[in-house]
Amino acid sequence: MKKKKLVISTGAGISAESGIKTFRDADGLWENYPVMDVASADGFRRNPRLVHDFYNARRDALLLAEPNAAHRGLVELEKDYDVYIITQNVDDLHERAGSSNILHLHGELMKIRSISNPDYIETLDADHLHTSPQTRGRNGDLMRPHIVFFQEAVPMIEPAIEIVREADIFVVIGTSLIVYPAAGLLQFVSPGTPIYYIDPNPAPTPNIPDVTVIRMPATAGVAELARILEKKREEEK
Ligand code: OAD
Repeated sequence: MKKKKLVISTGAGISAESGIKTFRDADGLWENYPVMDVASADGFRRNPRLVHDFYNARRDALLLAEPNAAHRGLVELEKDYDVYIITQNVDDLHERAGSSNILHLHGELMKIRSISNPDYIETLDADHLHTSPQTRGRNGDLMRPHIVFFQEAVPMIEPAIEIVREADIFVVIGTSLIVYPAAGLLQFVSPGTPIYYIDPNPAPTPNIPDVTVIRMPATAGVAELARILEKKREEEK
């Protein structure tokens, strides 16, 4: 039998238990750094050094982190489902856990791209982790973080919407549902599709029908989700 398509939208909360700070929780990144200075297009034009330094620190933290049971639990679900992950996260923990289909909406921390040619992208490694306004790619171009800054378009949103439209089950994990267009993906779920939202402090979802809130941290929440889905499959047999 054809596997059902399980589409999972993840945010910073799924990586919190790996020791990566979220943005808007208490002591989150945006409490400690002025967001429009370190993560906006204007900020990058004003002071590129500050932006590079901010992402260098994020890369240092990422190198110390490991995927947690939530990332690994989503890999396990591939046994029974056609799993697609759409992540707002710029970390590589879904990749390191072993998920097969991952779309990054907001870019990738371990990649840099040419300022003059957005299609030219290079991957950093542990020995070349830090960048500066002088960093050049192997082709000689000046490079920038491969991150979607505030005030910039989100090129991956169109393919993400297409994946969401085809979901048989839709899951949201660890996002405050504040940043658009990512938060708007929920609007593209087909009517009648079951939706699960795992978050210990979930955002209100008054206009979204069929949503089951699993008010738990991601690691426990993904285990609970797996149990719920297993039970449903048994009932449908
Ligand atoms: P936020 O920091 O806005 O929200 C984090 C969410 O994770 C909140 O709803 C928390 O309740 C939840 N959370 C905290 N601990 C958790 C845990 N252990 N398990 C599960 N959930 C937990 O992060 P995002 O919604 O991902 O964009 O932020 C969206 C975008 O805003 C980011 O991609 C980033 C930021 O500005 C860019 O930098 C482009």
